[in-house]
Amino acid sequence: MKYLIDSADIKAIEHISEFYPIAGVTTNPSLVAKEKTEFLPLIKRIREIIGEDADLHIQATAKTAEGIVNDARLLKNAVGGSFFVKIPINEEGLKAASILKTEGIGVTMTAIFTSQQALIAARAGADFVAPYVNRLDNINADGVGTVAEIVSLFEMYDIDCKVLAASFKNVKQIADVALSGAQTATIAPELFKLAITHPMTDNAIDGFDRDWRSVYGDNDIGSLLF
Ligand code: E4P
Repeated sequence: MKYLIDSADIKAIEHISEFYPIAGVTTNPSLVAKEKTEFLPLIKRIREIIGEDADLHIQATAKTAEGIVNDARLLKNAVGGSFFVKIPINEEGLKAASILKTEGIGVTMTAIFTSQQALIAARAGADFVAPYVNRLDNINADGVGTVAEIVSLFEMYDIDCKVLAASFKNVKQIADVALSGAQTATIAPELFKLAITHPMTDNAIDGFDRDWRSVYGDNDIGSLLF
């Protein structure tokens, strides 16, 4: 499973991109609005940070198929590189996805809550579908189970559409979608640190440091090799 950053916070994207193996960034209108800043410089800066080869998923805000297609063309032109327009699933969104498919513009169908939505989105030409794991868990549904169903359906019918699992509130959900076979997951910046943190790891690192210092003091390896 590849990891993307689910954020429009420039500082957070800079930090996560510097330290973690990132395949791209996803945003949505709520995440962008939270930044309270000019839209075009924001998305251009995100592209600059992650580079042309990383996937950038930005959501259209138009409501009609024609409007969504227009948003997608303009967004792709603005950010270049590997770009996917996020489109919430509904009739207009499906129509837009089919049109964009013929133009070679990448599509991520988002706000997916059922496997049938995902299958229909894939048939319409979506490159990714984004099921919302935590929002399903919040209503006593099964977020990870839904992701697993979608993965199975795509395998069963040999469909070339990837799962971009989204909406996480804890590392257990991320670990479970990885095991379910989701190809990608988009994660809020604060969850990256949690995903790599373990008290036994800290303990092991402290032990190595203590043992080394007991013999070599403050000398690091670099200072002992010449
Ligand atoms: C990604 O496509 C979604 O917009 C996002 O992950 C939703 O996350 P939330 O449920 O934390 O808002």
